[in-house]
Amino acid sequence: MSVSQEQEKYFMEGNAAEIQRLSFQHEVLKNHIGALVLAPVEVSKGGLRILDSATADGLWLRDLAGNVPADNTYVGTDIMEAYFPPESDWPSNMSLTIQSITKPWPVTWREGFDLVHQRFALPAAGKSGLKDALSGLIGLVKPGGWIQLVEADHSVFTGPAMGELFELVKDVFGAMDVGYDHARDIKTMFQDAGLEQVEERVYDVPLGAKNPDAEMGQKSAHAFTMGAAGIVGAAKSTPGCTFSAARLDALKPSIERELQEQGGVNRVYVVWACKPVVED
Ligand SMILES: C[S@@+](CC[C@H](N)C(=O)[O-])C[C@H]1O[C@@H](n2cnc3c(N)ncnc32)[C@H](O)[C@@H]1O
Repeated sequence: MSVSQEQEKYFMEGNAAEIQRLSFQHEVLKNHIGALVLAPVEVSKGGLRILDSATADGLWLRDLAGNVPADNTYVGTDIMEAYFPPESDWPSNMSLTIQSITKPWPVTWREGFDLVHQRFALPAAGKSGLKDALSGLIGLVKPGGWIQLVEADHSVFTGPAMGELFELVKDVFGAMDVGYDHARDIKTMFQDAGLEQVEERVYDVPLGAKNPDAEMGQKSAHAFTMGAAGIVGAAKSTPGCTFSAARLDALKPSIERELQEQGGVNRVYVVWACKPVVED
């Protein structure tokens, strides 16, 4: 692990329950969207190399690998080594490596993946690093291979507490100089990068009382409330955050109440594209 990658921080890292939040969020999203891969990649044909960037504990990869009877190779990367499960628990065809999306990727990985996936991590590139991070990811895709990104759109909310939370996300990310809302721009960024067959789907994932499945309702509300608590915690240690202590303290209980009583939606964009094969 390079020193510079060690120094990068994930703003939710202090949240002890982050992996549980991510696992509930994964379950709720999969249940609503109905698939992990929307790009037209035949994952069951085997022999593919699949990367999940910003993988946390590799759950997306492990879930995919567990449902595809094929000899694919799965690679996960993240800056938070503490999130990786013990190596003895990794499936034999999966490896996890420390790698930041803001740093150069190993040269031997260039054009080495049939599918590059990343979910909820583009803001970590920072405003000025977005273009380079995207081109780093695209550089990993084989000609004829696919990239799929999943990001949330924080401009859409249902009740006042959700509105307040997204206002705080904007405030904290702004104070950290991190890009706030990339979801709606990914399609254009892919097109501008010369990718082909660019497709976008938009999902309004129902949270809490709005989710027709009681278990998913509970898990989505819990995950969202934990996320709100994490953002509040980060806000308290972010110089430049404009929310008062009283406003911050009110946020978690009001999100919890709103999701239990009226529910909400989380708008999520799934965008995928193919890297063209360039003829000599
Ligand atoms: C919101 S979580 C999403 C995790 C996973 N992709 C998912 O959908 O469940 C964001 C992840 O990005 C990772 N991360 C933060 N900054 C990063 C960076 N510069 N490079 C790579 N990963 C980063 C965090 O450690 C965390 O695991």
